[in-house]
Amino acid sequence: RRQWLRGLAATALASGALKAAPAHGIMLRFSHVVAEETPKGLAANRFKLLLEQRSGGRIQVVIYPDAQLYGDHDEMQALQLGAVDLLAPSLSKFGRIGFPEFELFDLPFLFDEVADVRRITQGPLGKRLLARLSQQGLVGLGYFDNGFKQMSANRPLLAPADFVGLRMRVQASRVIAAQMRALGAHPVTLPFSETRRALASGVVDGTENPVSNFWTQRMHEVQTDLSLTEHGYLGYAVVTNQRFWMSLSESDRALIGQALREALAFGNLIADTQNDKALAALRAAGTTRIHTLTDGQRARLARAVEPVHQALANRIGLQWMDDLRNALK
Ligand code: LMR
Repeated sequence: RRQWLRGLAATALASGALKAAPAHGIMLRFSHVVAEETPKGLAANRFKLLLEQRSGGRIQVVIYPDAQLYGDHDEMQALQLGAVDLLAPSLSKFGRIGFPEFELFDLPFLFDEVADVRRITQGPLGKRLLARLSQQGLVGLGYFDNGFKQMSANRPLLAPADFVGLRMRVQASRVIAAQMRALGAHPVTLPFSETRRALASGVVDGTENPVSNFWTQRMHEVQTDLSLTEHGYLGYAVVTNQRFWMSLSESDRALIGQALREALAFGNLIADTQNDKALAALRAAGTTRIHTLTDGQRARLARAVEPVHQALANRIGLQWMDDLRNALK
């Protein structure tokens, strides 16, 4: 085995793949929960490429995709403890760690298009949200998209009546749980990495996610129907640990910040295409019926979940809700 390892090291050195970081080098560990062939996976890979190139290899980025290292239940803590340096959790996952105002992004049928999301993320409201994270020793470095969520189950989900009694996997967001309840379903909070197995074993009946996540987790093998409801937005915030961030030199922070901004812009650019590609692959696989909703069907779903906006306003915070309405006006 040692021989084999030596052989591997020699090959790697010869090909230049194992360039050891110099003594003063920096290693950034970036953990996330999705597959590499997703908007988030590809944005993370682009960040690594840009940063390693521009730092001449002095800053190395090691990416742990697919919840290999940490999953939804422990990644935030790992970041706070310094066991990883970068995460990109969905915005839906900040409520649970004390920032319920982030759940405003989960309000169903709030955004018609990604341009509406930008009015929040690129404006003062988005800045204030990220600044909040310092209360937990975190630094929010930027937002980026996956896209709009669809609903899956072993039946079409075209009208509120179709949801009644279904156990639907949700992220740990009270707003998303309330949305499922408003449709007559039972929300079941599960880490992303456990979702496919829970669908396969019947622990849950259905779920919601953009198609890129649905496809790359092979959920299509265990769900007969995908309904293109586009009922809510899924996006991310890149976060790091404040202590770690402040331990870097100002010029390294600028270098990392610049590479990240470009990687996130790249992620936003390809997000739609990745979801379209996943949908085309899903169609070709032929395992899952794909349903497009009429405007009337979408409007009925929207009406059914409308009370969630009012009911969860206290959780999100009335001032945040006011600011949100103003920003979207
Ligand atoms: C989920 O848990 O469904 C998503 O947040 C996964 C992700 O990171 O896209």
